[in-house]
Amino acid sequence: MSAVGPSALLELRGISKRFGASRALSGVDFSLHAGEIHALCGENGAGKSTLMNIIDGIHRPDEGEILLNGQKVVIDGPAHAMRLGIGLVHQEIALCADATVAENIFMPEINAGKAAWMNYASFNERAAQVLRRLGQDIDPAMPVGELSISSQQLVEIAKALTLDCKVLILDEPTAALTDNESAALFRVLHDLKAQGIGIIYISHRMAEIFTHCDRVTVLRDGRNVHCGPLAGSTPDELVRRMVGRDLGNYYPPKQSVAESSGPVLEVSDIADGERVHGVSFALKRGEILGIAGLMGAGRSELAETICGLRVARRGTVRLAGKALTIRKYSDALREGIAYLSEDRKAAGVFLDLPIAQNVSSMALGRVSSAWGLLQRSAEHKLAKTLGAKLNLKSDGVAIEVSSLSGGNQQKVAIAKLLATNPSVLLMDEPTRGVDVGAKSEIHHILRELANQGVGVIVISSELPEIIGLCDRALVIRDGQVAGELESNEMTEEALLRLASGLCEQETA
Ligand SMILES: Nc1ncnc2c1ncn2[C@@H]1O[C@H](COP(=O)(O)OP(=O)(O)OP(=O)(O)O)[C@@H](O)[C@H]1O
Ligand SMILES: [Mg+2]
Repeated sequence: MSAVGPSALLELRGISKRFGASRALSGVDFSLHAGEIHALCGENGAGKSTLMNIIDGIHRPDEGEILLNGQKVVIDGPAHAMRLGIGLVHQEIALCADATVAENIFMPEINAGKAAWMNYASFNERAAQVLRRLGQDIDPAMPVGELSISSQQLVEIAKALTLDCKVLILDEPTAALTDNESAALFRVLHDLKAQGIGIIYISHRMAEIFTHCDRVTVLRDGRNVHCGPLAGSTPDELVRRMVGRDLGNYYPPKQSVAESSGPVLEVSDIADGERVHGVSFALKRGEILGIAGLMGAGRSELAETICGLRVARRGTVRLAGKALTIRKYSDALREGIAYLSEDRKAAGVFLDLPIAQNVSSMALGRVSSAWGLLQRSAEHKLAKTLGAKLNLKSDGVAIEVSSLSGGNQQKVAIAKLLATNPSVLLMDEPTRGVDVGAKSEIHHILRELANQGVGVIVISSELPEIIGLCDRALVIRDGQVAGELESNEMTEEALLRLASGLCEQETA
């Protein structure tokens, strides 16, 4: 392959990086051409983000060298990387919540002291321009903290687009985006590619890798195991390279819930007076119910209203026939309703606490003595058991969650819920940022829990996940139920038609 050579825009040779005793990268070679979209793939914890952080100067490699246009460079930090023409869109949104959209987008200029020369009107105008390029109509004067996660992600991307870079790195940019938003992003990426910019694209989504990328590099356990063109290859082949084995049956077999099995959760006419306008449904014991809908349709708000994170203005929630009074989330938890938020960083895990304390944080009774004393050994045991179940990759359960890769942080968030032994699990985007192998494991775990009688609700923006995993799907539009599809009726088209309001469901 003519991958390496003077034509490479960016070249990494023999990059190694350790964090304490653990080796994140071992002798990684990588090359990026001008005008290509180069996919970087690998399981959670394979070292993708670490490698990109090295290119951005956030980490210094222990060994190896970086060449830019054939010239050896030592990258001091992100500001230096930026001057060299390297831009990185981080996996985790790292914006300043109190600052406005425009201030965040132009933070590098503001920090460089150039802001004094500019007035805010021009900041706002330029921010609006770059957001329009992404097909967005976000108000540049709005504080970022008030935006949805997908809009925040788009602001993060817009920020990189203003940098005028030669190398653009995107670390799972579409994990929080809708299909339309992703499509707009890809249009911009293809434009940039045509202008000769080299793009490194990290994603766990096979479809977009095969549609938009030219070459792929695969990392496994911190080593590169493959680099080559995507044309002529298949998703199965790529997955095998990442995982080192065939994955076999991707989705667990569905369970036909016995007609007689009664509802575990009954939600009647629930409304929060803002985003949820009278939703009713029943969840059977042992069933996995999918909740589909477009971003902003009110799916997360519905889940939040059910479990007390939003105030219900009307409606009732019954668990196993008993009407519940849920005023706050702890009421729901006590009754056995657990919720996984889609916003992992803000609500899912305590980043600066160890894995073990995270896992037990909502189930302290399980790891305390009869006298109510917390027992660290029990806490560690619980975290180890659940960690093993979820195939969590970490150096023990005493390490802080912040040092885990993104996908492994998601597994901690899930372990934390499972620790509560819930009878109803509300999972909002449970496999976001999770690699293909682990995703399949999470699906199997959800099915296993369902088979044990737990009622499982999965909110997902990935239609194949709804179709492959769920026994039934509820489609939400404008805070109401737009329709309901049984397993055999679920197709991407049928779900989308209901979600977008192209058709009202014909009543049988
Ligand atoms: N700051 C850090 N301190 C300690 N260990 C770290 C740190 N950053 C990363 N690691 C470790 O390095 C390894 C590689 O992590 P990295 O974040 O690069 O994985 P990744 O391929 O990006 O995974 P994901 O798909 O989950 O985002 C992991 O074992 C992780 O725990
Ligand atoms: Mg990562």
